[in-house]
Amino acid sequence: MIPARPYRLLLNRRHGTPGVVVLPDGGFRRARAEIEAWPGYEPTPLVTLPDVAQGARVGAVSYKDEAPRFGLGSFKALGGAFAVQKLLTTELARRDVAPNAGAAALETGEFRDATSAITVTCATDGNHGRSVAWGAKRFGCRCVIYVHEGVSQGRRDAIAQYGAEIRVVPGNYDDAVRACSQEAGREAWFVVSDTSWAGYTEVPRDVMQGYRLMAEEAANQIEAPPTHVFVQGGVGGLAAAVSVQMRGRFGAGVKLVVVEPDRAACLLASAEAGEAVSVQGDLDTLMAGLACGEPSMLAWQELERAAFAFMAVPDDSAVDCMRLLARRKPAVVAGESAVAGLAALLLAGRDPFSRGMLRLDADSRVLLFGTEGATDRETYEKLVTGA
Ligand SMILES: Cc1ncc(COP(=O)(O)O)c(C=O)c1O
Repeated sequence: MIPARPYRLLLNRRHGTPGVVVLPDGGFRRARAEIEAWPGYEPTPLVTLPDVAQGARVGAVSYKDEAPRFGLGSFKALGGAFAVQKLLTTELARRDVAPNAGAAALETGEFRDATSAITVTCATDGNHGRSVAWGAKRFGCRCVIYVHEGVSQGRRDAIAQYGAEIRVVPGNYDDAVRACSQEAGREAWFVVSDTSWAGYTEVPRDVMQGYRLMAEEAANQIEAPPTHVFVQGGVGGLAAAVSVQMRGRFGAGVKLVVVEPDRAACLLASAEAGEAVSVQGDLDTLMAGLACGEPSMLAWQELERAAFAFMAVPDDSAVDCMRLLARRKPAVVAGESAVAGLAALLLAGRDPFSRGMLRLDADSRVLLFGTEGATDRETYEKLVTGA
């Protein structure tokens, strides 16, 4: 179905050991209530892929297609924008402007005098910054977004359309994170990051609570509980949110396989090291949203015990899968960072040894998260047509 390519597969030796509660359910209930009330909210489709199931020699494959999410093209719309809303609500309460300003009041501009004096900022590979900029525009605050030099013009423009100021930093994603937090410290801006570190957890926790809604929708849409979930990892926030939701809905038996680009596999490296570690280098992968060298602390606290396995796949396998989905009828439009999970399933599914390790068989029901559509149209067209 796709050509064989080299990949890495590591079973998590600490899988199943008890750990801390990273995402309390109360936070999810609030995120869900808020986001479901946003204008235009609609669950994204869950597509069944019988041809892929056949190719991977499993029973069923479902693909949660995030391309239509709020017109932003990725699941990230659920996280950053919600965190901006929550931050502004909290800040207005702290400043005695409004005890509990909701999204509707913020969007009508009722508190514009106060919110326009607040600046939110983040570093991004594209999708998270777009969500934060969208949230800032809707809820009426200023926004400055840091991108590294490898972020395409298409992605920068997609952020700038919401009125955010874009600042370009030499280096990779992690350099942009550092530049952003330094400037935010100097200017008293609010960092709305999708990654967390010691002493900075509140906002990224809100971001991850927003992501859980995607997994919750999938759990409601799927016909039978999945046996396996293959989900891609950047800093791990998405995978951790999916992990928490799957456990909550279906119990701890669902096997979570976290998949990264082989050039930016910091979660696999951490599992190997037995603690969160960074990978160095320019993280030169075309899976731009997954080009992260440092795990999110919160995400790691969940994944270090909840992930069943970690895989690292090459860029070529992502392109193979984008083309595979584009050729289907009807086509599924999947961006570069959307298909690492699919690639891992197809690569492991054809290899008896990997199947055994992952306990994949003809009865397995696999859930995949297609986390973005063509968020950078030019790159998408180029990769899919090979032009
Ligand atoms: C399309 C897409 N998928 C997956 C991810 C990975 O999410 P996380 O960094 O939370 O692991 C990202 C991150 O930007 C993304 O943009």
